[in-house]
Amino acid sequence: MPLKHKTSGKLISFEGSEGSGKSTQIARLAAHFQKTQREVLTTREPGGTEIGEQIRNIIVHNSKGDEMCAETELLLFTAARAQLVREVIAPAIMRGAIVLSDRFLDSSTVYQGIGRNLAADPVAQINRFAVGNVMPDLTVVIDVPTEVSLARLKQRASDLPDRMERENLEFYTKVREGYLVLARGMPERFLVVDGTKSADAIEKKIWTEVQARLK
Ligand code: TMP
Repeated sequence: MPLKHKTSGKLISFEGSEGSGKSTQIARLAAHFQKTQREVLTTREPGGTEIGEQIRNIIVHNSKGDEMCAETELLLFTAARAQLVREVIAPAIMRGAIVLSDRFLDSSTVYQGIGRNLAADPVAQINRFAVGNVMPDLTVVIDVPTEVSLARLKQRASDLPDRMERENLEFYTKVREGYLVLARGMPERFLVVDGTKSADAIEKKIWTEVQARLK
């Protein structure tokens, strides 16, 4: 059943490699919106619902994780997204809320499509099926050089050596370039920010652009 996407609510997704600083900027953007008395909801992928968190667990921490094929990975990520859209995001948008999502469908396009070399057409179709007609109004890509992202990743206290995080420099270079190519193709939806700048400078840039683009 197609979902109604009411125009007063907005969905802003954040994308970028691990260690790009998405969560810091999501919290800061949420704080700006809170001052405007708008309802703000933050969520993350994979996860964000009870079913989604269980799926996250399978993807990230499964002991047989290394045997998981790329197709299964794609279907699990998109299954978690389908649940998140219907349970959380679409109802919030219908209420007029601002939803800030740490990752959304572009992560599957880039990580599974480009990173894992799955054909673009089925990835796009499966993504579309999962989200219905709920698309981001704006997608912020926080771009950092691959070496910086990997170095930050190593310092990060992770609960387990997660299978995505064990990927190599080549994989993350493809991921970074994949986001930049996507953003160049859809400049009206994407905003690319330089993730090597200070957190304050990035926050200012994002808030200025959000106000200008989502009037
Ligand atoms: P994060 O919690 O650090 O963002 O990590 C989530 C991991 O899952 C990250 O390696 C990206 C990956 N991922 C995909 O590969 N495809 C997807 O569709 C999503 C949402 C995440």
